[in-house]
Amino acid sequence: MNITIIGTGYVGLITGSIFSDRSNTVYCVDSNQTIIENLNQCKLHIYEPRLKELIIKNKDKGLFFTTNLNKAIKNSDIVFMCVGTPSDEDGSFNLKYIKSVAEGIGEVFKECNGFKIVVCKSTVPQGTHKVVSDIINKKSKENHQLEWEYVSNPETLAEGSAVSNFSSPDRIIIGTNSSKALEVMKQLYHSFVLKDSENRFKIGSPADAELAKLYSNTALATRIAMVNEFARIADHTDGADMDTIRRMLCSDSRIGYKFMYPSPGYGGSCFPKDILGLVSQSKLNEYQPLLLNTIDKSNELQKDYIASKVLSVLGPGKKVAIWGLTFKPNTDDMRESASIKVINKLLENGYNISVYDPKDNKAKEIFKDKIIFHNQKYSAIENTDAVILLTEWRQFDSPDFKLMKEKMNGNYIFDFRNRWLPKIVNSYNFNYYGVGRNYPLE
Ligand code: UDX
Ligand code: UDX
Repeated sequence: MNITIIGTGYVGLITGSIFSDRSNTVYCVDSNQTIIENLNQCKLHIYEPRLKELIIKNKDKGLFFTTNLNKAIKNSDIVFMCVGTPSDEDGSFNLKYIKSVAEGIGEVFKECNGFKIVVCKSTVPQGTHKVVSDIINKKSKENHQLEWEYVSNPETLAEGSAVSNFSSPDRIIIGTNSSKALEVMKQLYHSFVLKDSENRFKIGSPADAELAKLYSNTALATRIAMVNEFARIADHTDGADMDTIRRMLCSDSRIGYKFMYPSPGYGGSCFPKDILGLVSQSKLNEYQPLLLNTIDKSNELQKDYIASKVLSVLGPGKKVAIWGLTFKPNTDDMRESASIKVINKLLENGYNISVYDPKDNKAKEIFKDKIIFHNQKYSAIENTDAVILLTEWRQFDSPDFKLMKEKMNGNYIFDFRNRWLPKIVNSYNFNYYGVGRNYPLE
């Protein structure tokens, strides 16, 4: 099939690259000329494992990068909208990019014929299908030479493992009112669900798909917020250990192990934004949700709580090293990362901070010279009072605690992903602090 992808961010670039790898012809369009020029030289503005290899393999064979929306759409059967939907100040989804892309599609549709499908992959408030359809119909002046249909096909990519998520999806959500569009979408995704195509397509209306996506992210965020609340509760008991509790709890198959890891608070471009967007949209629809605001507040509290924990143990004006800055491992994405809030709070308290993150390019744009960036995890900890683990990159899994002790001035370890065994860390004469950890017996 011939496909246009509009927006080459985390979602669009992965979607386009994988579709081209499955022998479709894909035109990736972005309004940012520099991004397109760089992509044409295989220089990526984002990091995602395995993505660059896919682009090198397919570029100019079935994968093209262009700013020419007109030509791309005219040559395509399907047009994917993958532009960002950031939060406005009041938390509502800002749909300006979606609307401007819809205008652009409508403009090109004036001169098209045959059958085309417009797919929205961006996360949007429920009802966006109507907004987009109205704009396209108005702009294209109801061109009778062209039949077009709308599909909502929300992304379900977790950054860091997005290429494998996309290639072997556990579900493909398709929301459409058109059986003709549904057949084309099933054909497009057929090779992704060969094993179990009957069960993996989740089909409903555009309204169902839009809300299902928001529900999915809210459900996952709620689990993490709850686990982190329990970690705070455990901290205020006389010996309950969150990691032990987690394992006791998760062996209940109704609960399970996934998304139950205490952390410095969830971040990323989805959970924080989607929850606030859902609250705001519900209010517009004259419904005041009860749980949702609390989930967001609880998560922001966790970020503050983590910083306060360091301050309460060490006091102000210390020198610390931070390992890991991104909101999760295997990405360079810093959006809403807990590290931003934690670092800013420590800086306000006179801290001298050195950091190491394997992919710190975007962090450098945020912090500039306020903190010291190192290329090596052990050089970052020289003469520090404490090491603080914020992101669980694999290369932090088994550090050399003996070497750490030699390099550091102080003896404090803050393991805010609960990756290390307190007993082992303490055996090197460190003082260990985790998230809700209370020195278990093991
Ligand atoms: C995606 C989704 O689309 C968003 O709704 C979801 O909630 C999170 O993931 P992401 O891929 O992370 O967003 O977006 P971003 O990294 O902001 O990239 C968007 C791209 O679209 C940028 O490269 C931007 O230049 C481009 N763009 C934006 C256009 O080409 N045209 C526009 O009008 C606006
Ligand atoms: C999420 C959804 O998982 C994905 O399906 C959706 O389409 C986009 O949003 P993403 O934000 O990329 O993906 O990463 P995810 O793995 O969901 O992690 C989000 C945040 O939760 C990270 O900050 C992570 O560290 C945190 N997290 C995750 C925890 O704190 N504890 C956990 O147990 C799991």
